Amino acid sequence: MPQDQRRRVGVLMGGRSSEREVSLASGRQVFYNLDRAKYVGLPIFMDTAGRLWRMPEKLVIQNTCADVEARLAADAARLWLEDLPGEVDVVFNALHGKYGDDGCIQGALELLGVPYTGSGVLGCALSLDKPMAHALLAAHGFDVPPACIVDAADWARDPAGELGRIAAVGDDVVVLPAREGSSIGVSVVRGAAAAPADLAAAVDAALAYDNRVLVEAFLDGMEFSVIVVGNGDAAEAFSPTETTTENAFMTYDDKYMPGRSQKITPARVDAAVLDRLRAEAVRVYRAMGFQGYARLDGFLMPDGRILFTDPNSTSGMSPSSFMFHQAAEAGLTPVALVDRILALALAAHAAKRGPL
Ligand SMILES: Nc1ncnc2c1ncn2[C@@H]1O[C@H](COP(=O)(O)OP(=O)(O)O)[C@@H](O)[C@H]1O
Ligand SMILES: [Mg+2]
Repeated sequence: MPQDQRRRVGVLMGGRSSEREVSLASGRQVFYNLDRAKYVGLPIFMDTAGRLWRMPEKLVIQNTCADVEARLAADAARLWLEDLPGEVDVVFNALHGKYGDDGCIQGALELLGVPYTGSGVLGCALSLDKPMAHALLAAHGFDVPPACIVDAADWARDPAGELGRIAAVGDDVVVLPAREGSSIGVSVVRGAAAAPADLAAAVDAALAYDNRVLVEAFLDGMEFSVIVVGNGDAAEAFSPTETTTENAFMTYDDKYMPGRSQKITPARVDAAVLDRLRAEAVRVYRAMGFQGYARLDGFLMPDGRILFTDPNSTSGMSPSSFMFHQAAEAGLTPVALVDRILALALAAHAAKRGPL
């Protein structure tokens, strides 16, 4: 392809959420895996105030978002949102969490008419909100764990009443902020009835991140993650990854620190179960209204039941992430996967009627 016909790809990373460091690692990996024959990459940093900056390459390879932010004034130039359509042909969105993976930036890009990777406003908003995703999956007839929602105002007014509602969920529970990722603010409480103070501390810990908390029955099964790629009825699931942890649940460090946990692809279950996991993942993907790609997390129970507890409209994209693990298993290099996700974005935006 002649130089001047290469598409300009804005790679968006950093952001306002507690997952900004994960996003920086994702964005860097995407930027370095753009097929240079087809694409020109423009790395773009979103700072904690939500402002955009053009990143020179020496900022892309900084260790943390704090390191990047400290150098923005000296080494980077502001990029106004309104100028994006003139600067890029498509955005590869490597933002995670609030404002990045929840419909906010997707809405801004829709207004600007800039195609972007992954799901649209609604799919992102539904999936980042755990109570909403839970309700949607239940409405579609998927098996979901018993759960309840605790609202900050109710908790402040009547904690004993709320503890009573939680007791109906089960004695072993997982307490999660409504809208976080990477296990931030998550606690597991075993034997909650005998440990009301632990349960209250877990609710308070989750409420530090949001005004609502989802309390789910603890699932004692095999935790898995499945990447699904494609638009509409052409969506296909990669080979599921099994995760193992030494902790009560997969913690932030388990997810990102080398050596803390194991990711085993394909999961150590028989071929028929792998097929079932993949087929169910595609059904969840379509129920959530996902586009491009997504990561569906859940549990395979000893009795064979499959429960999807965490449908994510995006995935961490560090070199050792589920995305690249599973793509490799399918024979796709990181460059080929990034290329496919960009092609899917352009196709979805060309076919849409109104915002995605
Ligand atoms: N119902 C559950 N039973 C057992 N463990 C759970 C359950 N829900 C979540 N977890 C554990 O907590 C972790 C974080 O929860 P998850 O819903 O995946 O949120 P996140 O968006 O932070 O990834 C999971 O990786 C899993 O280890
Ligand atoms: Mg998860």
